[in-house]
Order: sequence, then structure tokens, then C-alpha cells
Amino acid sequence: EKTLESLKKQLKTHNQTHILTFWDQLDATQQENLLGQIQQLDFKKIDGWVANYVKNSNPPAIPAGFVPAPFYPSIPTNPAQETKYAKARELGRELISTGKVAAFVVAGGQGTRLGFDGPKGNFAISPVKNKTLFQIFAENIAAVSSKYHASCPWYIMTSPLNYASTLEIFRSNNCYGLNKKDIFIFQQGTLPNFGLDGRVLMTDKADIACSPDGHGGSLLALYKSGAIENMKKRGVEFISYFQVDNPLINIFDPLFIGLHALGGAQMSSKALIKTGPKEKLGNFCLVDGRVNVIEYSDLPDEMAEKKNPDGSLVFELGSIAIHIINTGFVERLNSKGFSLPLHKAIKKIPYIDEKGKLIQPDQPNGVKLESFVFDALPLASNSIILETVRSEEFGPVKNATGVDSAETAREMIIARAARWLESAGVAITRKPDGSVNCVIEIAPSFAVEKEDIKSKLAQVPQIKAGDKIYLA
Ligand code: UTP
Repeated sequence: EKTLESLKKQLKTHNQTHILTFWDQLDATQQENLLGQIQQLDFKKIDGWVANYVKNSNPPAIPAGFVPAPFYPSIPTNPAQETKYAKARELGRELISTGKVAAFVVAGGQGTRLGFDGPKGNFAISPVKNKTLFQIFAENIAAVSSKYHASCPWYIMTSPLNYASTLEIFRSNNCYGLNKKDIFIFQQGTLPNFGLDGRVLMTDKADIACSPDGHGGSLLALYKSGAIENMKKRGVEFISYFQVDNPLINIFDPLFIGLHALGGAQMSSKALIKTGPKEKLGNFCLVDGRVNVIEYSDLPDEMAEKKNPDGSLVFELGSIAIHIINTGFVERLNSKGFSLPLHKAIKKIPYIDEKGKLIQPDQPNGVKLESFVFDALPLASNSIILETVRSEEFGPVKNATGVDSAETAREMIIARAARWLESAGVAITRKPDGSVNCVIEIAPSFAVEKEDIKSKLAQVPQIKAGDKIYLA
């Protein structure tokens, strides 16, 4: 009773008394459960979020004095750079083969745009065998492990909403043939959802509405879950961070890993040259010598459109959520305490009204808050950026149809396979518009990089228009 009274007082101070509206109707278990949820809330922080994000509709302040960030081009442009890239590749290979690099996929998102039932990693995407995203990554990790005679570990971040289903997918697929001890599945944290008036939303009489705390939550969750501890025990120093929706990811890229390590960096990024000033990618900038990502929606138009004398965009580098992060960096951030800024999204969030009736809003009615992993870049004292080629490494599956959809990603998988084969001298049949005239899928066991094809040429059949070719 005493706790309940003091709790009521606390809720009153913070304008959240409605959380207990139906308290008397709950059974003992529900009460205990709700109490636990309330105790998880940090009301001081909540007051700040309500003031700064929920009720504040000003766009976030962008840092003053930002300039374009320097980067390594995808192909070296002078002999000194060529030497450096060769050295970096060699170092990267050594780091992979000595088990110092781990794969890390963030898979805690809700995938609302794709509208697929279940964890996005279970979405089937490969053009011939219909392999899921998780299977493609698993096979990639297995192929790299065998190529480098190492056992590369894989860390998978889920959310409380999809943890159990993700575990079940891995169990029923026998971890896709990977060794169980090389897989570590954990959960990220959540943040409460708010109504536009700043009150925490309830999903039912006994539960607070919560959603995953964003991919930035990975930096906390890696630590809290024991993943960092596990990495340290295994001798992992570098975390290869990628998103669950990119089937083209080159998880273990010796050049990227090597340039990061040679540069003494703590967190590094891959970047693309944007297709235009308004492409919806974050922009790599430099502020006080530190790398920052400014979101496309925050970069003023005149800056986005500014051109160099050669016609290229001044802010031409877009962020694609591919990073190398040091285990030591994540550990240090957590041990000294850190916080990333939050970003707000106004969404349709089901909730119960003051009468306890469930409302499925048809208009956005609430706020979800998330942190973004790239906001940790300015916390790194060193950070390198490597330009990559879109058609080789970035085919995000975000939408059911149209841009960045399963269809475009599948086309990109086929087109990349065709280019890899052609570069090794294989003839590929093409339509008059240049697109590939057959369906090709290269399994990671056949090649994880273009260079792997050369030694396998004897296994490649002659390819005719309309063929369905699977190389493994
Ligand atoms: P997106 O920003 O595309 O969000 O996530 P989403 O939730 O997957 O999809 P929508 O917006 O609802 O359609 C980019 C990557 O970050 C992960 C996702 O799983 C995806 O790999 N992510 C996102 C998390 O792991 N946790 C989060 O809280 C948010």
C-alpha cells in the first residue's frame, strides 16, 4: 500500500497518473507486472523527452560549422593510396583469420513498411533458392570462416517483440548449420510511447505501450546483454555492424576492416555517393574534426544542393548503416555513461482511452522515440569513411513494392552475380536494355567476393537466355 501511495504521488508529479486508472480491476499478477513496468521508467528523463521531443515541434538543431567529411574512394586514386589499400587488405585478412572480427546484425526493428509477418530476417529474398536474409548472412559467415580458417562469431540484436520468434527461427533452422557457440542472440531495450499530450500510452489496462529504442540502442544492448563480455573472452576487437534488410552486405570486408584498424579508428563507416541532393540518406559531415551524420531531412536545401566546380555535390556522401565498431569503444562508452540524442516519429499507435476501450487510430496520434547508431560517430576520436559502390553492397529491402523493395533487391542480387561472372570472363546474356536475361544466384559458398570466382570457373555452366542458374 505504501509503495502504491508513493507511486501515485510520483506519477502525479510527472503528470502520468492515468497509468494506474484501472489498477483496482487488475489481478495480483497484472498489478505486479504493471508495477515492474513503472519501476523501469525514469521519470526525470521522461519529463525531458516530453518537453524536448513530444511537445516540441521545432526541428532538431544541426551542428554549426559543418563541412563535408573526408573519405577513402572506393578505388585508390594514386600510387600511395594503392599501397595503403594493399596494406589495409592484408591487415584486414589477418584480423579476420585471427578471429578478431565479429558479425553483428541489428534485427530489432518492426519492419512496418515491408508488412511481413515475423522477424524481417526470415523474409525470403534470394532469386533462385528463395533463401531468407538470415540464411544468406549465415552462409556468408560460414564461407568466410572456411576461407580464413577461423570461426567468425555472429551477434544478433532483436527486440523484446521479436526475440522469441527469432530464437525459434534459428532453432528450427538448426542455426543454418553454424556452430551454436558462435551465435549470440540478445535483446535491445525499449522506450515508452507517448500521446501527443505527453502522457505515456497504455496498450491495455495493465501494460504501457513501448517500442524498441532504435538501432542506436545496440550500443547499450551489446554491453548490457553480455555480448561485449563474450566478445572480449573470444578476443574479438572489431564489430562489423550491418542491418538485417541488406542482402548485398559484404560482412567481412578486409579493406574496410584494415583501413579502420590502420587509421586507429573506434567507429568507421561505409558511404555511397548520393544519387542526388535529396536522396534519403544521412549526410557525412565533419564538425570540429569529428564525423557527424546529418539526416537528409535536417540538411538545409541550399546546402544539399551546393555543388563543387566539377559539378559534384559538396555533401555527396550518404550513410548506409555499415560500420566497424571497436569492442573497446562500446565498453568505454558504457562504463563512463553516455547517451545518444533521441529522434521522434509521429505514428499511429494503438492505445486504450480513459474508459479502457482499445482505439486503433486512423490518424497519427502518438510519438515513438529512437536513437540512431550513427549519432555515436562524434564520440569516436578517430573515424574513417570508405566509399563503396551501391550495386555491389547496398540493396535494402524496406518496402513491399517499388523503391528499396524485395523486387529491386532481387534484381540487384542477380545483376551483381552477372557482373562478378562477367569480370571473370563468363558470357552473360542480356536484354537490349542491358539488364540480365536470366536468373543467377551465387551462394556465399561459391564466392563472397568477386575475386573468389576465378578459381571456380570450371564449375560455371554455359548460360543461356531464360536460364535459372544456382552456383554453390
Ligand atoms: P529501419 O529504420 O529500416 O526500421 O531499421 P524498421 O523498424 O526495420 O522498419 P520500418 O521503419 O518499421 O519499416 C534499420 C535497421 O535497424 C534495425 C532494423 O531491424 C533494421 O535492420 N533496428 C531498427 C533495430 O534493430 N532496432 C530498432 O529499434 C530499430
